[in-house]
Amino acid sequence: MNSATAAPRNIFVTTALPYANGRFHVGHMMEYIQADIWVRFQRMQGHKVHWVCADDTHGAPIMIAAEKAGKTPQEFVAEIAATRKEYHDGFHLSFDHWYSTDSPENVELAQDIYRKLKANGFISTKTIEQFYDPVKGMFLPDRYIKGECPKCGEKDQYGDSCENCGAVYAPTDLKNPYSTLSGATPEMRSSEHFFFKLSDPKCVEFLRAWTTEADRHGAPRLQSEIIAKSKEWLGEDGKLGDWDISRDAPYFGIPIPDAPGKFFYVWLDAPVGYLAALKNYFDSGKANANGEPRSFADFLADPATEQIHFIGKDIAYFHVLFWPAMLNFAGYKVPDSVNVHGFIQMGGEKMSKSRGTGVDPLKYLQLGMNPEWLRYYIAAKLNANVEDFDFTAEDFMARVNADLIGKYVNIASRCAGFIAKRFEGKLGGEADDEARALLQSTRDGGAEVADLYNKREFGKAIRKIMELADAANQYVDRKAPWLLAKDDTKAHELQSVCSTALGLFRSLTVMLAPVMPKLATDVSSLLNVEVDRFAALNAPLAPGHTIRPYAHLMSRVEERQLDALLGLDKVVDPHKAKGENDKNKKDNSSNKSASAPSKSEVSGKMSTSESSANNAFISIDDFVKIDLRIAKIVNAEHVEGSDKLLRLTLDVNEKNEDGSARLRNVFSGIKAAYAPEALVGQLTVLVANLAPRKMKFGVSEGMVLAASSKDGDNASGLYILNPHTGATPGMKVT
Ligand code: 2FM
Ligand code: ZN
Repeated sequence: MNSATAAPRNIFVTTALPYANGRFHVGHMMEYIQADIWVRFQRMQGHKVHWVCADDTHGAPIMIAAEKAGKTPQEFVAEIAATRKEYHDGFHLSFDHWYSTDSPENVELAQDIYRKLKANGFISTKTIEQFYDPVKGMFLPDRYIKGECPKCGEKDQYGDSCENCGAVYAPTDLKNPYSTLSGATPEMRSSEHFFFKLSDPKCVEFLRAWTTEADRHGAPRLQSEIIAKSKEWLGEDGKLGDWDISRDAPYFGIPIPDAPGKFFYVWLDAPVGYLAALKNYFDSGKANANGEPRSFADFLADPATEQIHFIGKDIAYFHVLFWPAMLNFAGYKVPDSVNVHGFIQMGGEKMSKSRGTGVDPLKYLQLGMNPEWLRYYIAAKLNANVEDFDFTAEDFMARVNADLIGKYVNIASRCAGFIAKRFEGKLGGEADDEARALLQSTRDGGAEVADLYNKREFGKAIRKIMELADAANQYVDRKAPWLLAKDDTKAHELQSVCSTALGLFRSLTVMLAPVMPKLATDVSSLLNVEVDRFAALNAPLAPGHTIRPYAHLMSRVEERQLDALLGLDKVVDPHKAKGENDKNKKDNSSNKSASAPSKSEVSGKMSTSESSANNAFISIDDFVKIDLRIAKIVNAEHVEGSDKLLRLTLDVNEKNEDGSARLRNVFSGIKAAYAPEALVGQLTVLVANLAPRKMKFGVSEGMVLAASSKDGDNASGLYILNPHTGATPGMKVT
């Protein structure tokens, strides 16, 4: 659909409700930024959007965490809820309302949906047997049961699989099971559970149709990957089992009507929380204040109201099966579409707080980093597919400094000053046909950008905007206003050229406004024009229009900021002498090692200057501390974003605890000297006991030895060491 020509839409948008047991991580921010860009774009198109979200408060883990913290669950979740605003404001997230699933509206709606499902014959009951903790007096979710592996006998294994031998089993198979909450031996007890009859043929039939239908605009309501997944989940008849929606007291949740001691499982009331948040938004008068005159019931009952969810791929099952089926068979509006995204990763792995890898959004803000850099970076990386992407510091710096500053801001910084200084801030007319054609092609490009935003193809939208910025910069380069400014007879041309460039800049600003709302507001003030309607990109800047004096719009991101964000400023480099590390601590700005490690750092070459500077012999005792091993290079590949490193996978004949082969990951600064494919299968020498080093691309577990002619300068060649024939992986080099 071409969104630019569509009649005004009325859209109810949600993002996944975060568990109220911890602060936001960058994954939350990515989802919110994705939704925020889409929501802001739709608003700029004149559509009415109501974007709500809430804390997901219920369930056993939060109940237990609260108890451990000596708090009531309500106190516990309130403390987490109080942390949300800092992130919302910090990253310019334009939620219309933030609420909680622990609310009267959620009780009312969840119970209403349940009653209607029951009345329509979609609820059944069954008695099931489950482990019960006699000390805590509660049934135990699987994650709170441990015991000995039924296969290998390893102690302290979880109830689903063994970390030692990999066996998969049921909690009831564990030997000597115990409750991790009390240490008590659990007992088997039976209890009546309530089920949503997903296996009902009517349900399966509904889901087969709903998952594959187009939305009201003729676009698929689910992405192709999710349609394929739901086909798999729905499978042949009967594959979809009934869904257990009840939990026994004690449970922090919503009581099931007419069933004392029974509560809804958290995953039943969580998505109902979308509606509860919307209801509170209406009932509190906020929706009315936001230009929506109707009641919650009228808004939801209107067939023209669109309901669109943004979620991560890990919770697609709940949102494309349980949720639409619940709504449909309770007689509620079903979602129009569910937009599923992948994850933001680092070095191909999930970011992990405990391993200290990743981008902490709060730290980002506390370091004073510009939130719009991250918004821009995330936009540039996102597409409409269910794909993960990798955060790398180099890529982040390139996008911000080369694109945003070097291309976009550059247009204004090169032209706005002349208008202020030479023409009292007054714009002139377009310079000539070339200028007119360029302004027009930029406006035409805006229509393409609008279509890409609407389809959530943000990366493509950003690429298109940068293409247009390139064309604008080429125009400025050709006209060279700084030369025109030197010749008084060319004042008129100078004014026209700069005015044309600022017209282009205005159009580009409108296109970037969904991603960078704060910057757009600053530009709006500089140019003294509106930028908050998408159509404004087509409006020319009239001759005689007055702009304000140019003020700095955006700074470049510095390497030391990323080092601090990623904790790389604290990594002690084992390759350097103590004094050098200390020096780096004092002067971060000169420490280039994190993103551009010196050759000796990454390849492990001992430079002649280093050895002579030390000017001392070492004892044999010192030498034998170095564990040198023969390693086989089983894989070698380029490292995205690094022009120096190769990622090597090395076999040193080591084993993991379970007996499987352990391979080492080593980054080596030999890219200039070797094509990766030339290395695969070769033997070399590894410093095997070097402390693992955290780098931007992942952890390097050792160092490959290489020779070069002088002082880390590989101009005369860089040569990795090869042992003579007969050496095998794991052999010690002495
Ligand atoms: O996976 C999660 O983080 C859940 N708290 C998401 C719930 S989304 C919706 F269903 F509420
Ligand atoms: Zn085992």
